[in-house]
Amino acid sequence: MRLTAPTNRPVCRIGFVGTGGVATRHAQVLSSFDDVTLVAATDVDAGRAAAFAGEFGMAVAAGVDGLLGHDLDAVYVCVPPFAHGPAETSAEAQVAEAGVALFVEKPLAADLDTAEAVGSRLDRAGVVTRVGHHWRCAEPVAQARELLAGRAPRLVSAAWWDKVPPVAWWPHRARSGGPVVEQAVHVLDLARVLVGEVEEVHARAVGTVPGGDVDAATAALLAFANGAIGTLSTTSVLGWKHRAGVEVVTDGLVVGVGEDWLEVRDGGAEPQRYTYDRMTACVAADRAFVDTVAGRPVDPHRSPPDHAEALRTHRLATAVARSAASGAPERLG
Ligand SMILES: NC(=O)c1ccc[n+]([C@@H]2O[C@H](COP(=O)([O-])OP(=O)(O)OC[C@H]3O[C@@H](n4cnc5c(N)ncnc54)[C@H](O)[C@@H]3O)[C@@H](O)[C@H]2O)c1
Repeated sequence: MRLTAPTNRPVCRIGFVGTGGVATRHAQVLSSFDDVTLVAATDVDAGRAAAFAGEFGMAVAAGVDGLLGHDLDAVYVCVPPFAHGPAETSAEAQVAEAGVALFVEKPLAADLDTAEAVGSRLDRAGVVTRVGHHWRCAEPVAQARELLAGRAPRLVSAAWWDKVPPVAWWPHRARSGGPVVEQAVHVLDLARVLVGEVEEVHARAVGTVPGGDVDAATAALLAFANGAIGTLSTTSVLGWKHRAGVEVVTDGLVVGVGEDWLEVRDGGAEPQRYTYDRMTACVAADRAFVDTVAGRPVDPHRSPPDHAEALRTHRLATAVARSAASGAPERLG
């Protein structure tokens, strides 16, 4: 920590690897914090890096090495799934081995091996890491956690029914990892938070999306270690986002929750539905990361997960993807 902000809080100097859509969202949020300075950014697309750096008053850096020359406290890695490896040259490993904290966007990689190898290097480096599962910071998730506390979950329905996102790499399995790994990983992470660990998955997938080779629809059976049973369903063939969330059934209560909504029914004639501003969770995730880097206390239930915890969700997502490809069940360790 190098400078002193007007609030007397130390200023966190932040850099970016990858300057596309999600990097812009983080930069908008972070630039509203009085204890953050956005310092420098790098991207393989020089034009994008220049536009992003110009918008947020940052320097353009030549690669990760150039970025690390800017005396940073933290780096946001906001690259597409295919750009996370190999571990030896990954931005994450380079940043962590320089002793700098990391915020990595989900998914951790398009595949499992890359994420595991990067995870091992991050463990050895021992720096602060957080991953962009910002739903964990959402108010509806906190409410759902409270409603479900002490109750035995019986049935879980996790769903992501949506369109193909408007980024060129997304419809290609080798680049995105496919819809379960790239997108439904949010609801799998939420299912782990609300219900517990999954010990076996068995999935089937059908079709491909227009112009790509990722599955058009996937359905999976999820067996939880605590005895609950559930399903995950995904599709990308709509022209709109229809539903993304998790519903949990316990005796006499159904709780449905997503990034910005909560639905509760406990015997009343109608479910109670509440909606929230989705940006609140995005802001809370960045706030929690900056506070963690600064050594300030953070409520663990309102923090995004670290890399090791996000890796457990990534193992689950990649197990579903493997099972969908092979047709055979997959057990998780
Ligand atoms: N947590 C969330 O809510 C959320 C929302 C959107 C996206 N994401 C995730 O963020 C990641 C990026 O998504 P996006 O929408 O910003 O994609 P994008 O395509 O808009 O931006 C990615 C950027 O990374 C750059 N890039 C690619 N390889 C690189 C490399 N090796 N080094 C440096 N830069 C590189 C590209 O040139 C591009 O500018 C994805 O994994 C996506 O799932 C998360």
